[in-house]
Amino acid sequence: MKIEVLKNYDAVMERATEIVAAQVREKPNTVLGLPTGSTPIGLYNGLIREYEAGKLDFYNVTTFNLDEYYPIDPRNSQSYRYFMNDHLFHHVNIPMTSTHVPNGNTSDPEAACREYEAAMKAAGGVDLQVLGVGRNGHIGFNEPAEELVADTHLTGLTADTIDANSRFFASADEVPKQAVTMGMASILRAKQILILICGEDKKEALKQLKKGNINTQWPVTLLNLHDDVIVLCDEAANA
Ligand code: GLP
Repeated sequence: MKIEVLKNYDAVMERATEIVAAQVREKPNTVLGLPTGSTPIGLYNGLIREYEAGKLDFYNVTTFNLDEYYPIDPRNSQSYRYFMNDHLFHHVNIPMTSTHVPNGNTSDPEAACREYEAAMKAAGGVDLQVLGVGRNGHIGFNEPAEELVADTHLTGLTADTIDANSRFFASADEVPKQAVTMGMASILRAKQILILICGEDKKEALKQLKKGNINTQWPVTLLNLHDDVIVLCDEAANA
């Protein structure tokens, strides 16, 4: 695991933009794994700037998002599909058919999860998986638990995550109580992982990751099973 501590959020986003842009330049048909949340917004803005400057081409890129609320209509502005369209896909030249977000709008989520895993495999696997982390150490929507489900699955959200994510909704009651998420095994199959950890409320999650042990109560620590992980954090998270 390589850890880079940078001054603040903006510096982390600048460095993350550099890493993702370099990956796409080196391999134009890169498969990217992408997160939502407020953290990666600076990265997506950085990638849009590179694209607008003519320095980045997304035409052959494929993306797989980590997670989606369930149930949710993709046209709902709180859905992660809407978030990705709004913050990245609609601003670059990626064909929409090359963008994948787990299906939160199906009566058969289990079949949709199997299809999602098959689509990742058919695309040749994820080359670079970008991650954020929840303040309780969750990755995607792999919440702290005694047992974690390995592959893409339907899961419940913890009270802490509903509370943390309620800032995007009118009230906590409106936050969906379930989500479809890649599992930790799906995530760890990526060839390389880039995790972005910013802000004081992520301090404990970073500390747990840095211990180097595996603890399913801190899903982020499972990244210690992967041998090509870059951690970009700011000074506030590393304090
Ligand atoms: C959500 C997402 C995660 C994300 C986390 C942190 O719950 N499912 O993938 O990493 O929130 O979000 P933020 O970056 O807003 O702190």
